[in-house]
Amino acid sequence: MSTDAAPAVPRKLYAIPAFPPIAARLMATFARSDIELRSVADLIASEPTFGSRVLQFANSARFSFNSKITSVRHAVSMLGIEEVRNATTTLAMASYYRSSAVELVRCWRHTIACALLAEEIAKATGQFRDQAYTAGVLHDIGRLGLLAAYPSEYQQTVRDAAEHALDLLDYEREKFGLDHCEAGRWLAERWALPEDFRVIAGRHHDPPDGSPFDLCTLVHVACRLADHLDYDVTRPLRPVELDELLAPLPEPARRRLTEEMDRIRKAIELHIAEYGAFLPETAKAAREESPEQAIAELQLSNEFTVCLPDAAPSSDSGGGAWKNAALLAIAAALGGWAWFTWMR
Ligand SMILES: [Fe+2]
Ligand SMILES: [Fe+2]
Repeated sequence: MSTDAAPAVPRKLYAIPAFPPIAARLMATFARSDIELRSVADLIASEPTFGSRVLQFANSARFSFNSKITSVRHAVSMLGIEEVRNATTTLAMASYYRSSAVELVRCWRHTIACALLAEEIAKATGQFRDQAYTAGVLHDIGRLGLLAAYPSEYQQTVRDAAEHALDLLDYEREKFGLDHCEAGRWLAERWALPEDFRVIAGRHHDPPDGSPFDLCTLVHVACRLADHLDYDVTRPLRPVELDELLAPLPEPARRRLTEEMDRIRKAIELHIAEYGAFLPETAKAAREESPEQAIAELQLSNEFTVCLPDAAPSSDSGGGAWKNAALLAIAAALGGWAWFTWMR
């Protein structure tokens, strides 16, 4: 468990790229009670690279709509607010997973499993349905931060903790001067995430203390449940039965989750597979394997631009090609900058 005294933050954590501004603006929009589909779509469309990812997601096998979706407004209206909120947060976090190292993949699987389980717990309890999935996606940002700041050292730390059955939080403090909860709290503040998410990033490993059921307890249960279902980063030191894990939840929710655990397991695997295609390394490998993929992405970017209802029409027949080239150049420049920043 984290201590209350704030630890010194290692210099390398300061070098981690900011939370994508588009995702932060969307989170602020989703927090409002009067969300308008049109303003969400316009916000997504204001960031072309992100918008093209949302379009790709809307056209993925997950939904199998009858016709191709070619504008962000169409995508948002077809998917609905809940799906768009989940997708945009997940896609924003996916951009940080820039390696195929085993430990990073385990973190990604744990994050997706925790998010989906948090959503299932929210449905079963009827509480925090608007925030649960996002809280699950963001709960381990401190681990992501340590992995980004110390790629090889943190991977070795996870391996050592797993091999020697060490308490990972203790071991993180020994190696880096702070654990991933402390790093997460600090990062969430630095990224100006809402207070609820700061608390969850910092306290999701704290055992429930008997206080009324809240979002942090919900994520705590989801995180431990993910470990229990083998979506762990390091094995829990003590194996825990499902009944004990679900104990902080009201009885009807415990019963429902226990009965539906097989369905939930399958949903997690499907969810991991669907979002796996959007990890930078997976997308890169697909492009290297298939130049058609790169061309398809380029066409998608172009369709995205010309199909926006308010976009200015192309002034000549060759405009599309120039737009394609410009978009590719901008995307390449942004990608190169992000990669450079990330690897510093
Ligand atoms: Fe954690
Ligand atoms: Fe976790």
